[in-house]
Amino acid sequence: MKASGGSEAAKRTAGERAAEFVDDGDVVGLGTGSTAAHAIRALGRDVDSGLDCRGIPTSFQSRELAREAGIPLADLDEATPDVAIDGADQVADGDLVKGGGAAHAREKYVDAAADRFVVVVDPSKEADALDHPVPVEVLPDARTVVADRARDLGGDPTLRSAERKDGPVVTDNGNLVLDCEFGTIPDPAALAADLSAVPGVVEHGLFVGLADDVVVGTGDGARVREC
Ligand code: A5P
Repeated sequence: MKASGGSEAAKRTAGERAAEFVDDGDVVGLGTGSTAAHAIRALGRDVDSGLDCRGIPTSFQSRELAREAGIPLADLDEATPDVAIDGADQVADGDLVKGGGAAHAREKYVDAAADRFVVVVDPSKEADALDHPVPVEVLPDARTVVADRARDLGGDPTLRSAERKDGPVVTDNGNLVLDCEFGTIPDPAALAADLSAVPGVVEHGLFVGLADDVVVGTGDGARVREC
């Protein structure tokens, strides 16, 4: 699993606190990444103890983890998530940058479909303003023209390279990822709309106005902030 900053204890506290948002009978969007993984494991333990819930995974990784944890699976054709629990690479004013694991396209439509979207982070993800590079999933043939448009929008795009494989990261959807450095993003909603309008963009990692709660784990507890 991709490593990210922040202590494992803080991530676990956030994930386990967020799992408490799930009620009996709920359908849960299962996010991707090392923090959401703690929520999935906690839900698996709850299922062992008798909780009735089904999970809608947002990636190959979260599907495998859910299966290992014993969480029954569902999909968006048969159910709408009551709650989605997902991590973030950065949080500012309830807006997020996601996609460090290249799963942001599926994450966005599952998280957006949920009645309640709960973000789980450790304190290293909190910021006053978003300035994390924005992952942009692109159709492979479109990567050069999308990179040009990203530069027009003030970004500095880099094709994400794979680790332990020559060449680029290929997403679960068979696409590529451009990590676009924009510096501080003063108007995330405007940039989100501009990126969404570029032909060839599948999805970008700006999640604006989607989160309902942010759970920040620390070594010895969790803060829950409503958005
Ligand atoms: C997956 O593509 C991402 O959106 C992750 O949810 C995000 O990178 C957070 O991951 P960590 O919890 O591992 O930092």
